[in-house]
Amino acid sequence: MTTKLAFIGFGGVGQALAEIVLERKEMLENQHHLDVSVVAVADMMKGSVYHPDGLDISKLLSCVRENGSVETYPEDGRTITGWTNTETIIHSNADVIVEVTYTDVKTGEPAITHCRTAFKNKKSVITTNKGPVALAYEELSELAKAKGVFFGFEGTVMSGTPALRMPKTTLLGNEIKEIKGILNGTTNYMITEMEKGLSYQEALEKAQQLGYAEADPTSDVEGYDARYKTAILSNYVMGVPISHKEVGCEGISGLTVDDVQSALNQGQKYRLLARITRRNGSVEASVKPERIAQDDPLAGVTGATNAIVYECDLAGSIMLTGAGAGLKETGYSLLIDLIHFNQQRILAKT
Ligand code: HSE
Repeated sequence: MTTKLAFIGFGGVGQALAEIVLERKEMLENQHHLDVSVVAVADMMKGSVYHPDGLDISKLLSCVRENGSVETYPEDGRTITGWTNTETIIHSNADVIVEVTYTDVKTGEPAITHCRTAFKNKKSVITTNKGPVALAYEELSELAKAKGVFFGFEGTVMSGTPALRMPKTTLLGNEIKEIKGILNGTTNYMITEMEKGLSYQEALEKAQQLGYAEADPTSDVEGYDARYKTAILSNYVMGVPISHKEVGCEGISGLTVDDVQSALNQGQKYRLLARITRRNGSVEASVKPERIAQDDPLAGVTGATNAIVYECDLAGSIMLTGAGAGLKETGYSLLIDLIHFNQQRILAKT
């Protein structure tokens, strides 16, 4: 059975997923019984195209890269161009909406509306946008459940490093007492550069040059990006719904090279740590710079790498480390969701 995708947003992450499904076509079919067809793309800047029988992914990528528009896709009489995002979600025959629009994480829009519209129309959603899961998880997950559709968002925390699904699928049977982690690559990179002697400003400029920091780095350096991810971990992994506003938040903008060097001289390192601790059916959550011993495994995490530790009552302390951003890695996170969508569909039919 073919899985039909509609991309809402077709920037770097969407294109990365399209490339992966093109390159891994045989492997996905042979190993995962996943036969993917891209039926639609709708993007605010690149236009939209729909074909009920599927589009040729190579041609689609060429159109975007050569012309900056998917509306130059070859016409065959049944091709439709010019649909809005909403028309594409409602009227296309897609099974799965790949929601990768440019979304304002403060409001979660337009991604939240796209997810809601898809679920109401009995379409599944996979997304890398943090807004829908940090701001509207309860509403959207309940709506998806009521409509019998799938909601996948692995890439919202640590991109393709499976920080969400690993504890939910392979650490089953444990109670997770605490989660702590380095969830923002920009700030970890900056702190490790300050450990080498760079000033805060020099470290920030380097992070921006390397493309780690957001265009406006406020969300990174003030801890807001990590705070959204903390809310997602609490909502999904800990099963305790909290708003990002309930997560105490302090970034690294007050940290100087002298603070970092003085910690080093005392056998410690600063890390911007997200921490969620279970307390009598509730959780306490914070994001703040913490001084940790140099032999703490999290102190060994340097550069833009992310890491997360799950304190489990049976398995003990489990640490997962890997990329927290990157086009290929984030595109891959969508593939993880897609394979799980397909596995659930196969199970439901047996
Ligand atoms: N700017 C973010 C980071 C990207 O530095 O980790 C991933 O959310």
